[in-house]
Amino acid sequence: MSLPLLEPTLSGPRIVPVLVLDDVRTAVPLAQALVAGGLTTLEVTMRTPAALACAEAIAAQVPGALVGLGTLTKPEHFAQARDAGARFLVSPGLTDCLAEAAKATGLPYLPGIATVSEALIAAEHGFRELKFFPAMLNGGAPALRGMVPLLPEIRFCPTGGIKAENVKEILSLPNVFALGGTWLTPADVVRDKRWGDIERLAREASALTV
Ligand code: 3PG
Repeated sequence: MSLPLLEPTLSGPRIVPVLVLDDVRTAVPLAQALVAGGLTTLEVTMRTPAALACAEAIAAQVPGALVGLGTLTKPEHFAQARDAGARFLVSPGLTDCLAEAAKATGLPYLPGIATVSEALIAAEHGFRELKFFPAMLNGGAPALRGMVPLLPEIRFCPTGGIKAENVKEILSLPNVFALGGTWLTPADVVRDKRWGDIERLAREASALTV
């Protein structure tokens, strides 16, 4: 049985802003600014109590956004994410229980891996799109390049420590379908509601992918 994939649903730049949102009132204007800057695939992390409400608000109120939920570390997170309107799911790692909960949602799921053995375990569960995390600590582009001949059927979305200067090299790899990170939404810029600056950062990132 093949599991649903995220890659075929992606449009536009293959860069996924990873969002840590404390306040549902900032979620919508932040997402609007990112979408206006060209970045339409957004990952809201379950690192704050407001995460589910923020994802739900973005899914309902920001046309053009493809919203996922990330940092899913408990089996119960998966149904909660689906019910909030998430279109894809992400975890920093993988366990048997998380794999089962992810499959039950019927949504594309990117489990996190950091080693070849972890990638093989994820593949045994049937997952072919994986989050390489934390990407830069684990060797960045050279490490991903080294996995091409070993894991020819696996496609990666690396995150963790990626900055604008890493984007071109990583996206040029044949086994990378997207990448993500928080560098597009600096905490002070979000706190001060400088949505024009967010849109500019998003537009600059989008330009790196053309
Ligand atoms: C993630 O969950 O994908 C990462 O924490 C994002 O990493 P970054 O903050 O280093 O971009």
